[in-house]
Amino acid sequence: MTPSLPASVSSAYDAAYTASLNDPSGFWGSAAAAIHWDVPWTHVLDDREAPLYRWFAGGELNTCFNAIDRHVLNGRGEQAAVIYDSPVTNTKRTISYRQLQDEVARFAGVLRSLGVGRGDRVVIYMPMMPETLIGMYACARLGAVHSVVFGGFAPNELAVRIDDAEPKVVLTASCGIEVQRIVPYKPLLDQAITLCTHKPLYCVVLQRDVHRCELTPHRDMDWHDAMAVAEPVACVPVKATDPLYILYTSGTTGRPKGVVRDNGGHAVALHWTMQHVYGVAPGEVFWAASDFGWAVGHSYIVYAPLLAGCTTVVHEGKPVGTPDAGEFWRVIEEHKVSVLFTAPTAFRAIKREDPNGTFFTRYNTSHFRALFLAGERLDPDTYHWARALLQKPVIDHWWQTETGWPVAANCLGLTPLAIKPGSPTKSVPGYLVEILDDAGQPLPPNKEGAVVIKLPLPPGTLPTLWRDDQRYIETYLERYPGYYLTGDGGYIDEDGYLFIMGRVDDIIIVAGHNLSTGSMEQALASHPDVAECAVIGVRDPLKTQLPVGLVVLKSGVTRAVDELAKELVQLVRDQVGPVSNFRQVIVVSRLPKTRSGKVLRKTMRAIADGDAWTMPPTIDEPATLAEIESALRTLGLAPQPRSPIGE
Ligand code: COA
Ligand code: AMP
Repeated sequence: MTPSLPASVSSAYDAAYTASLNDPSGFWGSAAAAIHWDVPWTHVLDDREAPLYRWFAGGELNTCFNAIDRHVLNGRGEQAAVIYDSPVTNTKRTISYRQLQDEVARFAGVLRSLGVGRGDRVVIYMPMMPETLIGMYACARLGAVHSVVFGGFAPNELAVRIDDAEPKVVLTASCGIEVQRIVPYKPLLDQAITLCTHKPLYCVVLQRDVHRCELTPHRDMDWHDAMAVAEPVACVPVKATDPLYILYTSGTTGRPKGVVRDNGGHAVALHWTMQHVYGVAPGEVFWAASDFGWAVGHSYIVYAPLLAGCTTVVHEGKPVGTPDAGEFWRVIEEHKVSVLFTAPTAFRAIKREDPNGTFFTRYNTSHFRALFLAGERLDPDTYHWARALLQKPVIDHWWQTETGWPVAANCLGLTPLAIKPGSPTKSVPGYLVEILDDAGQPLPPNKEGAVVIKLPLPPGTLPTLWRDDQRYIETYLERYPGYYLTGDGGYIDEDGYLFIMGRVDDIIIVAGHNLSTGSMEQALASHPDVAECAVIGVRDPLKTQLPVGLVVLKSGVTRAVDELAKELVQLVRDQVGPVSNFRQVIVVSRLPKTRSGKVLRKTMRAIADGDAWTMPPTIDEPATLAEIESALRTLGLAPQPRSPIGE
């Protein structure tokens, strides 16, 4: 269905939405007035190379200046910019805008002394500490391009990203802390660099007291030693269309996609969302309980809150276990958080430990206004539980690493709309979301199909993939000409509310993290006893989905299955990382395939989840599915013995 624009402008949301689609240049051109430009743009929307669009072409600015220096100049110097709260090390630290400016300027000096300049890449593999944010802003200050890699990825995944981004310098820390477990990062980085073809020249290492590491001579330097002698550096204006960062996201193959974010469109769009989507004013405390390594961390821990003159919280802990299920409420009370943003899985984890919300009643959260959830579907049960507990708006909103900011949300800063549990409400101004069938025809209300966004995408969304326009076009733009393919399936109801039902490709969503089954399959296939394998995501009440591996052994292999399964689990952990949550593997005699050899993952997933499924007409050996079903049952999956519908 093509959602029609509202016939009469009846609310701030309708007005903004209509304006953003009828006159994107006018709409975003006005929003851009809130940003400081060193050189004004010549084109708000540059469509000369459509379907590759650029925003604010000809303009120049510096993102770091807009997020930090500008606020110091405008009187926010003594306001807290960053609150670091680390229950795992029992540390708290508040950094004012002025202090942050000083630290970022000096760390930019460190990078410059290592030869980093405009356009050079810096890979960042660090824990939830303010230094990570300082490293990111130091890159932005110099016009260098950062690429942050989540700490839960293994050396192999880090190596793939280093080889693609080709950084001059890598920033790391001696360790991360996962509740009680120390994760030494430096050996992981060393291993990654050994695996890489591209060798970074330098590594700057933040030594932590809980665990120090050896530095590699001539390559590594101590963060604090380098800072002690660094000269501060001023902001370097860059083109609006220059890349600010690359953030790798899972592809359907094992090779991650380097999502590029520009400087100009990003600053304009993120600044706009703070007021209009999240309803937050300058000076307020905004907390995104995520990780720097994810898009949520980039947009809503690092950039948006500071672009808007808010205070951001850097939390090194978990919703449960650091030390208990009251941790979120403690942080909200102590730091006067107005708005919290996290993934539904965090709330499911809290609900599991504290179903009656006893911890919540121990804290004063009266100044807390709203909870925003994203990263995975917000199931109605979790929505109702959170709503009843908080007695404040609980807003489901939908977006992707690629878009960098919400595509669909209930815009609290425009006109809050009625909530329909299970729906992230409606398109945010700037996005026209449609539902198409296989032939590219718009579907009527309530009919499920491919969720697509009409081009051009608004500012701040990905202009392309790092050094790979072709892959960008093939992955996102070719399937339905004129549209961006989200990879999600869903529908729009008769009131225009969007429902996202899940990925239609081989990407799975685990605890709010988007992971590729392809990279897990690559790891399994590297085992000498494995002939073939497939990884599917099966439903999980806490983490939405969990991966399950199905492997076929090479003929003649007669090993004990338990022992082999342990090796395979370890292999995925070593090659992809603990973030994969890969713990279940079964051995089968064959994989179900079509006659052309395509593995029937979707059918296996339906069987595992106990959903109705249809015997694919093109299957080569129907009996394989019965074997898969009984093997899945040994893991407690495939709950109901359902017969296939039809043949
Ligand atoms: N560095 C190293 N290892 C990490 C890591 C990091 N930065 N982050 C996670 N890991 C490890 C975990 O320790 C865990 O290891 P284990 O298998 O040895 O237990 C593994 O990766 C899986 O992590 P995760 O899926 O996050 O599970 P968890 O049990 O540690 O935590 C939640 C579960 C729900 C509490 C947590 O995922 C959470 O808070 N999620 C919501 C917030 C969020 O991250 N959102 C992202 C997008 S908004
Ligand atoms: P990522 O790129 O890691 O942010 O993951 C993006 C994917 O997460 C989307 O394509 C969706 O499949 C899923 N997702 C994110 N937010 C939501 C939401 N609010 N509802 C349903 N799915 C979501």
